[in-house]
Amino acid sequence: MRELIDKLQENKALSKYEWTVLIEGRSPELAEYLFQQARSVRHKYYGHDVYVRGLIEFTNYCRNDCLYCGIRKSNLKVSRYRLSKEEILSCCETGYSLGFRTFVLQGGEDAGYDDSRLCGIISAIKTGWPDCAITLSVGERSYDSYKALHDAGADRYLLRHETYDAEHYAKLHPPLLKAADRQDCLWNLKKIGYQVGTGFMVGSPYQTAGHLAEDMLFIKDLDPQMVGIGPFISHRDTPFAGQSSGTLELTLFMLGLLRLMIPKVLLPATTALGTIHPKGRELGIQAGANVVMPNLSPTTVRKDYALYDNKICTGDEAAECRNCLERRMESIGYHVVTTRGDSLNI
Ligand code: 5AD
Ligand code: FES
Repeated sequence: MRELIDKLQENKALSKYEWTVLIEGRSPELAEYLFQQARSVRHKYYGHDVYVRGLIEFTNYCRNDCLYCGIRKSNLKVSRYRLSKEEILSCCETGYSLGFRTFVLQGGEDAGYDDSRLCGIISAIKTGWPDCAITLSVGERSYDSYKALHDAGADRYLLRHETYDAEHYAKLHPPLLKAADRQDCLWNLKKIGYQVGTGFMVGSPYQTAGHLAEDMLFIKDLDPQMVGIGPFISHRDTPFAGQSSGTLELTLFMLGLLRLMIPKVLLPATTALGTIHPKGRELGIQAGANVVMPNLSPTTVRKDYALYDNKICTGDEAAECRNCLERRMESIGYHVVTTRGDSLNI
């Protein structure tokens, strides 16, 4: 098994079979070996720096009905909200003074924000804080829409492919959503010139090691600037309420593998990882991650953006999360830095 990790370290491609064997054959000893290599690669390119992104969850309206997601349209228990342009700018104001130089605008697929409205918000942020990067995470849109948003000043786009395998994808999504459409969106985003982030959930219902192997192959092919992964966590008001969540152990292992496969990629230690274990984000950093994304949304709406149960930080002010993360990173010998934190994988 170590040979496969060494092969990755030498920047050699693994086959689907090799990925599957490696993922299925993992052990605590192998994981420790992997994390050592992953950390050394991470230190080579990013040192002990941890990049922060201020996450603004600006709408929880969504036209989609993904089976895993707490804000799916069929969940009538959700209290829906939209932030106005002024409210979003006020989040940026707070964020900038806390040292954030990247703002991530994330939301459901909400027709209430058409291109012109989103472009207006993007250009206002760019005018107010020209030294900041803007990341969008608003789902599937047309090529022309992505282009318009990029022209307005959006620098980066996050769109997890969720799972590469079409059959598995179909088990997690309503019939209208297709794995291939998702992947096309990612290729379009790349072509337009965005710094692109993709990713998947670890331990989603029906997921096998073979699916994860295909995810790795797809990501290698796409060669994104960022990869966001976190454990699947069930949400009580979804069809997956009774499904078990992904594990810390497998998520950390996948983080280590991603770091070795694309050495310069940006890899967040996600909120979901922090939710399944009190030290999840610290452990994520120690497995090779180099980004954290604290929440900048107003505390009044935080609890309404619950994609999964028991999400952390829903009662904390932005400043509290910022300080909390700084302490957490310092406790393991890493330092939060105040820069845009662009990917070196270009
Ligand atoms: N558990 C973990 N992650 C989830 N996401 C959505 N629902 C859940 C859940 N129940 C992830 C998806 C999506 C991202 C914004 O959040 O991967 O792309
Ligand atoms: Fe939000 Fe710790 S990061 S309270």
